This record gives sequence, structure tokens and C-alpha cells, in this order.
Amino acid sequence: MSEEPLVNPEVLEMVGDWRGYVEAKLGFRNHWYPIRFSSELNEGALLVVELLGEKLLLKRIDGKVYAMRDRCLHRGVPLSRKPDCYTKDTITCWYHGYTYRFQTGELANILAVPDSRLCGRRKIQTYPCEEAKGLIFVFLGDEHEVHPLSKDVPPGFLDEDLMVLGKHRVVDSNWRLGCENGFDALHIFIHKDSTLRHFREFNFPIGHTPLPGAVTCIEEEDGPKGVEDDFSKHHPIWDGEIDGQIVVKGPKFDPKKGTSASIGTSIWLPGVLKVESFPVPGITQFEWYVPLDEGRHLYVQTLGQACTTDEERSDFANKFETHWKPHGLDGFNADDIWAREVTQPFYDDDYGWVDEMLCEPDSTILEWRRLAARHGRGIQTKKDLR
Ligand code: FES
Repeated sequence: MSEEPLVNPEVLEMVGDWRGYVEAKLGFRNHWYPIRFSSELNEGALLVVELLGEKLLLKRIDGKVYAMRDRCLHRGVPLSRKPDCYTKDTITCWYHGYTYRFQTGELANILAVPDSRLCGRRKIQTYPCEEAKGLIFVFLGDEHEVHPLSKDVPPGFLDEDLMVLGKHRVVDSNWRLGCENGFDALHIFIHKDSTLRHFREFNFPIGHTPLPGAVTCIEEEDGPKGVEDDFSKHHPIWDGEIDGQIVVKGPKFDPKKGTSASIGTSIWLPGVLKVESFPVPGITQFEWYVPLDEGRHLYVQTLGQACTTDEERSDFANKFETHWKPHGLDGFNADDIWAREVTQPFYDDDYGWVDEMLCEPDSTILEWRRLAARHGRGIQTKKDLR
């Protein structure tokens, strides 16, 4: 019996040169994704996480993190239902005793059948893990496709001096609505009432349209692939008018305070936004929209600041807790989260991708969709979940 397709085939016929993006409802396989902060996984501890529709077990052994599919080879049950770890580098299935080695996934033993011909010959799928900037990244893909992490993070993220702090939470929308919400040039309209907008020193227009030359695709062979949008080449609108009457008043332009025109945004595969000079000059926001399943993503919000001394690090950590987390990641971004969640139903059955009516500034979103379709290294399918 053939499998029900993940995406409506009629929709796929209609979307043209970004078809691969619409197909990637569960995300792109063969990329690195941040899944937790390093501080959340202590030595010997076990974490159950989801990624691109797969359930994984993470364990830290002798300081190194390993990721293994959370599904017993014998009868398919989740090992996490009752984790039996009798030695530091193995997990034994609670049902019939199949025992797996975390480092390789190898079936090392069946406790009640120690001479089984299967021992040493079968493996659970494992995935490479790396830690960088306080985050645990998992390469969800095939062994022969592993790429350096530097190809899957925005430029600057791995800079030696960059100190990164952040948080994560689950958002009830597909990962692509996260990417598009962040990169959407018009979406700042929803931030007009944010406390951060008044708190920060920039003025925010109610919207802006990219002018020719604002949008650039970055597609160098050995680097990350993304789309950059330069706000200094935008036409901003400060006040909203209906029938000649101003109904939404943007802050008066004050050149001394600077504007959002000094901010550049970019979106990178496999779904990570970089916002420069935000929430203030000297800080960059990097945020990932990590696919969990068809209707949820892990929103990994981080801020990075170059720090070279202990004093600078301590000052940034303090400001992060007192300013940027409550006003920015919690306050300002709360608008983005609910916007994504209420957009989701329109795209649930895939027809949203062809029924939407985009306008001129949405050209940035279309560039991103095309680039993602060109450079995504593999589409996660229902077959991959088997
Ligand atoms: Fe896991 Fe039988 S289902 S050992």
C-alpha cells in the first residue's frame, strides 16, 4: 500500500520554483540543528527530544553528547518509556532486554539471549552531535552527508569572542512560518506596541519596502546559504494613513536616535535568522526555528555580544537577565509567537501556499523560499520516520 503523501500533490504542482520548500514540511534533512543548551544536559543525564518528526535520546558520556533514535529495533517501542541504563554507555530496552551502545547505536547484547546472532550486527540510528556557543547541535541526517557545523550557522555566530545567551520554547506552528515571520519586512507592524520598541533607542517604522539592491542571496560553495536584507536600502513608512487621516503614528524620526535602517536581517539554512544591531548596536540576535513535527517548532532564541574580558562577560550576562530576556526574548518576541500560531491553520492543509496573496515587500520571503529549495540537502519524508 502506498504511503499518504506528506504534502498535498495538487499544491506541489502549483508552487513552481520553490516546490522543495513546500515539500519540506518536516524540515530539511542532512543539516545541523540546535536542540538544547549544553547546560541542560549534565554528565550521565538522559534527555528525550524531537527533531524533524523523529524522537531522539541524548546522553552525555565522559563530557561528550550522543544522540540515538528512541525506538527499539525489536518491536519499535520507545526506550525512553522506562530508561534502563545499567552501564554508563548503554541503554537496555525495558521490554525484552535489547541493549544498545550510545556511542555507535550497536546492539551490544540481549540480556536474556546473550548468544543471539543479532548482537554486534545490528544498529539503532545515531546522529553526530557538536557543542558550540553553549548549544547542543545534532546533525539529523545520513552519515555520509555530514557537513561542518560552520556551513549551517549564520556568519559570525562562531566568532571566538562572541558570547551567546538564550532560551528556547515550543511554538505551535510549522517551522517555515517561523522563518518567514522573522524575515518578513512588513511584520514589524505587529511590534508597534512592544515595550521593547519604546525601551530601545531605535525608532521603528510601521513597515518598509526593500528597494532594488536590498536583497542578496549568499550561495558560496563552502559557506552557509542564506538571503540578506539590508534595511538601509528600504523605503520606510512611519505613519499609517486611511483616507488621508493618520491612524497609526510611528515615532517621529530622530536622527540622533538612529532607526531600524541600521539593522540588517538575514535568513540561513536550515532555518535560522540573524538580526544585526538588535536589540541595540553591539548585540546580534540569532534565532532558530527547529522543526519538531508538521505543526510545531522549537524556537531557539539567542543573543550574541563580542566580549573579551570577564567584566564584559559579566555585564552582558547581567543585562541579558534584567533587560534583553524580559523585554526582548519574552516581551518583543511574544508578538511573533502568537502571530505564527494563528497563521498556522491557513497552511495546515498546504493550500495556504497557493491561496496566500503576497505583496511587494514579500519578495524577500520568495527569495528565501527559492534559496531553501535550491540548497536544502534533503527533504525529511514519512519514510525517514520509519
Ligand atoms: Fe525492545 Fe523487545 S521491544 S526489547
